[in-house]
Amino acid sequence: MKTKLFRLNELPVAGELIANGELVAFPTETVYGLGADARNADAVRAIFTAKGRPADNPLIVHIADFEMIYEIASEVPEIAVRLAKAFWAGPLTMVLPKRPEIPSVTSGGLDTVGIRMPSHPVAQELIRLAGCPIAAPSANRSGKPSPTTAKHVMDDMEGRIAGVIDGGLCEVGVESTVICFDDAETIHILRPGIISEEDLQPFAKNVYVDKAVYSQIAPDAKVASPGMKYKHYAPKAKILPVETDSFSKFMDYVQSHADNNAWCLLFDSDPKPENLPFMRYGDDGREQAHFLFLRFRELDEHGADTVYVRCPRKDGTSLSVYNRLMRAAGFEVITV
Ligand code: TXA
Ligand code: MG
Repeated sequence: MKTKLFRLNELPVAGELIANGELVAFPTETVYGLGADARNADAVRAIFTAKGRPADNPLIVHIADFEMIYEIASEVPEIAVRLAKAFWAGPLTMVLPKRPEIPSVTSGGLDTVGIRMPSHPVAQELIRLAGCPIAAPSANRSGKPSPTTAKHVMDDMEGRIAGVIDGGLCEVGVESTVICFDDAETIHILRPGIISEEDLQPFAKNVYVDKAVYSQIAPDAKVASPGMKYKHYAPKAKILPVETDSFSKFMDYVQSHADNNAWCLLFDSDPKPENLPFMRYGDDGREQAHFLFLRFRELDEHGADTVYVRCPRKDGTSLSVYNRLMRAAGFEVITV
């Protein structure tokens, strides 16, 4: 299959492809998504094949206006309406009970479904043009870092899908915050994103982060979100996060352990290291989220074997970066 790169003036063609059951990757404010008609079981099955994704890992269904939620969810609790008013369109995914019109392949066999309204105008326009809710995981091959440019999508998906819409670099850079509701007053964060625990606190009596966000779960453990089970976001290079309160301790450790082709991934405010190649990924959570997956892919292009990474904070927006880094590193941290 020849994969077509669409420019923004060709959106109607891309919308028609989706309406006809084909797969088209498109930009969102978080990362690129690999889209298909969420109601078309064959089209959705093709997403799993193109990505090499395990069939039990459910997809997020994307909508373009709030009312579409009632075509997908069988129950929309009051708290979900309040959160949608505050955070949609934007990078928040809510897991709700699924309507029977959404096939079980879309929800990985679960009776719930993740729903989000992206704020990216191209994503919204594509949903309108296609005339259907769009199921879309991140548009990477399973296990690779999520793509934040159309080129990354092409690198992973060329020949496997009908097209990619080029919308430039994604603004946020990490995937949406995924939440479910344990009860009417409890928000359970399944995957952290730039909408943080602190941002959600005013909307519920209880807000908590699933422990699988911070640490490796046992292979046979029951998980609240299937995506937690799979190793993720990893570049080819071995990722070694180093947790420390100072740049000099970080460098001392790296200088005494680094072998051939080791790189450093540093904060912007860190000094320049001697004798080691390096990249930077920002100082605060927003910047680091924007650059993390981009740097992972660049490090692979440079043929890095190991990458020593300055560890981000674990609060606020930074938790999303910490979580992606831990998952790329198999939750192993070096503390110095
Ligand atoms: O920002 C994003 O969310 C991007 C863009 C394209 O919208 N999408 C994305 O999709 O990251 P994906 O498939 O790569 O990640 C979806 C995550 C997975 O970890 C999955 O297990 C979880 O959401 N998820 C989806 N539906 C769920 C459900 N019904 N219950 C629990 N977890 C669910
Ligand atoms: Mg993904």
